Amino acid sequence: MTAITVRAPAKVNVGLSVGPLRDDGYHDLVNVFHAVSLFDEVTAAPADRLQVRVEAAPGSPVPVADVPVDDRNLAVRAARLVAARLGVEPRVALRVRKAIPVAGGMAGGSADAAAALLACARLWDDGGRLDLMELAAELGSDVPFALMGGTAVGLGRGERLTPLPTGGTFHWVFAMAHGGLSTPAVYAECDRLRAGRRVPPPEASDELAAALAAGSAKDLAAALHNDLQPAALSLRPDLRRTLDAGRDLGALGALVSGSGPTCAFLAESDRHAADLAAALAERGVAASTLRATGPAPGATVL
Ligand code: C5P
Repeated sequence: MTAITVRAPAKVNVGLSVGPLRDDGYHDLVNVFHAVSLFDEVTAAPADRLQVRVEAAPGSPVPVADVPVDDRNLAVRAARLVAARLGVEPRVALRVRKAIPVAGGMAGGSADAAAALLACARLWDDGGRLDLMELAAELGSDVPFALMGGTAVGLGRGERLTPLPTGGTFHWVFAMAHGGLSTPAVYAECDRLRAGRRVPPPEASDELAAALAAGSAKDLAAALHNDLQPAALSLRPDLRRTLDAGRDLGALGALVSGSGPTCAFLAESDRHAADLAAALAERGVAASTLRATGPAPGATVL
């Protein structure tokens, strides 16, 4: 059997409403995911034992030295889960090529998990017996969306997905920060900042859904919302400068992507995105800049 390569997209949360902390340590969300055209690729090849190699995609500025290559790696966990469900040994060599910032709030680890799930299922699951969405939810709250792609609203932990219609292509610039942020640490900071206040249930935004459906970048910019942003800024006050610079340089909208520290800027057009990326780099407010469009497809066999 030959090697299988799958690519899976990054996401930006265009609307993230965080409810109170639940007894199981998670928060109920109304999480509007939007997949963008930055892709990690996972190649799965038959081998005598489970191995993983992680590298930057050719030409990508994403540092990969901090990505674990043991059982903390979500692609490894995905391979083990598929093998366990099928009752086979996980005899596979995984090569993960990263173009999505690591620990950046763009669900790069979840993309790797989704890609590895699909690749290993193709290698071992002849009859297509597995429910990959169910396995994805077991691996992490953002993994089902990395399989699905497009634009979708996630309820519960974010794993109960409904696709949202999108009326056009949106142009994004992402400012990568030096270093990463831990998602649990950002949620814990969010709880700390809200301590003593009654936290309402998470809310859906009609304005956001309408802006996406209309394909209006201006309306989408006005409706962007991330409840984790104050927590990310509390842990990384330097990000305020990055967001301010983007707004100052003419971004239609600016927000922290998910739990950060990557900052996302919405542009009017491809040309505007290119100019904005260059201007942000010149201001020195980002480790690197990346450009992408959304919505992008979910995990796909190449
Ligand atoms: O599901 P996942 O493993 O990706 O979640 C990582 C961490 O993010 C959780 O351990 C939890 O601290 C936080 N989280 C949360 N509420 C969610 C999703 C994630 O508190 N809905």
